[in-house]
Amino acid sequence: MSDTGHWDPDLFRREGHRMVEWIADYLSGGARSLPVLARVAPGEVAARLPAAMPEAAEDPEAVWRDFVEVVLPGVTHWNHPGFMAYFGITGSGPGILGDLMSTALNVNGMLWRTCPSATELELRVLEWLRDGIGLPGTMLGFLCDTASISSLIALAAAREAADPEIRRTGMTARPDPRPFRVYASDQAHSSIAKACLTLGLGLDGFRAIPHDGDYRMDVGALASAIAADRAAGCRPLAVVATVGTTSTTSVDPVAAIAGICEVEGLWLHVDAAYAGSAALCPEHRFILDGAGRADSLVFNPHKWLFTPIDASALYTRHPEVFRRAFSLVPEYLTTPVSGQVIDLMDYGVQLGRRFRALKLWWVIRCFGAEGLRRRLRSHIALAGGFADWVDRHPRLERLAPAPFSVVCFRARGRDGDGPAAVDRLNMELMERVNASGEVYLSHTRLDPGIALRVAIGNLGTDETDLARCRELIEKELECLCRR
Ligand SMILES: Cc1ncc(COP(=O)(O)O)c(C=O)c1O
Repeated sequence: MSDTGHWDPDLFRREGHRMVEWIADYLSGGARSLPVLARVAPGEVAARLPAAMPEAAEDPEAVWRDFVEVVLPGVTHWNHPGFMAYFGITGSGPGILGDLMSTALNVNGMLWRTCPSATELELRVLEWLRDGIGLPGTMLGFLCDTASISSLIALAAAREAADPEIRRTGMTARPDPRPFRVYASDQAHSSIAKACLTLGLGLDGFRAIPHDGDYRMDVGALASAIAADRAAGCRPLAVVATVGTTSTTSVDPVAAIAGICEVEGLWLHVDAAYAGSAALCPEHRFILDGAGRADSLVFNPHKWLFTPIDASALYTRHPEVFRRAFSLVPEYLTTPVSGQVIDLMDYGVQLGRRFRALKLWWVIRCFGAEGLRRRLRSHIALAGGFADWVDRHPRLERLAPAPFSVVCFRARGRDGDGPAAVDRLNMELMERVNASGEVYLSHTRLDPGIALRVAIGNLGTDETDLARCRELIEKELECLCRR
């Protein structure tokens, strides 16, 4: 290492090449040789880490060795083709290297001036995606880290739109003390209720609306809840419609919900964190019907657009409301072009902003829209094949429609099994399949009980992985039913 602390170029090259070589192997099949779900006990990794910070500089060789021997065993491999839990995702080659370049530049795009390319590339790439998924050209898009934060700041903007005084007074001293209410289906992601508690609306401010037989928001129940809340002296603020719910990927009737929001004067936020990507394919674009009437919408390229975590695209028809909610510019953040350019720090909570758009730009350019669509379609086809297999299997049953790349199913109970026993059987089945280290499934609770989920989203996942998954389910189910 040189006196400045920078690695000398030869050392940087040696260590960098080692890492790039490892990544290339990992992405081209190496991950398959590792257990997808980490096999460590709680505290096992920590026990192998020194309690105190190293005083002297260590040899990078030793750091690498510990990465391999201590860190890797405690990694659950989200980039593994057998990862089918939660939502399968991919950190693709172009995304990884785009992120590397962003890290090397180490810019902070808080202001346009502090890195014009960071702001302008971000805005342009988000325009590409906006047009690609069929949102109106009047929507402005920018990146947040996660959908949770995107939805939080969207609901903060909704609050600003409803009552601009809150910015000055805070929630307790606001002139209109009626409690706010935010509505979303009972299938909405927990980040919506979390946004309510963060924004001072409290969990009482979140109203879970029942779902219909296909896990979509019941629009009649939404209308009734709004009317009941108004009658009870509450103040309806916003509705969150989900396109691709976390458990089953159901799609709320966005156009009907938009109609209610327009009549009631409520902010409509669409959470399309997972399924928004599917709208890149013309045959799936209908899922966003009505979303152009939304006040804000989020979808996550880090979920199903092959971009390494984190990258969440937030769109709005009212950028000026976000600015009103969040812009606070001390002298040291003014520049000669303040007011003439978009300074992205003005649209959310955080000041510092990394050059997140670079990896997304790399991904979109290297795949092309056509390449992205092809991979999305192939994931949907793989899920369709798995759903057909479940439907034909005498011991399995499907618990929800599978419109995208997620299939919810369960093993039927054995003779005499009550609901709790069926749940236990399925949890045991999942744990046994996951213990294989070859695939990783997760579960949820649906109306009939525990459901297992196969969620496809990794670029490496192919028919052989699905065949192996089916084989493991069959084998473990056989053992459980024989007991
Ligand atoms: C519908 C939906 N919204 C929001 C989220 C939260 O995403 P993030 O981890 O980006 O905050 C998820 C996560 O799975 C989700 O499924």
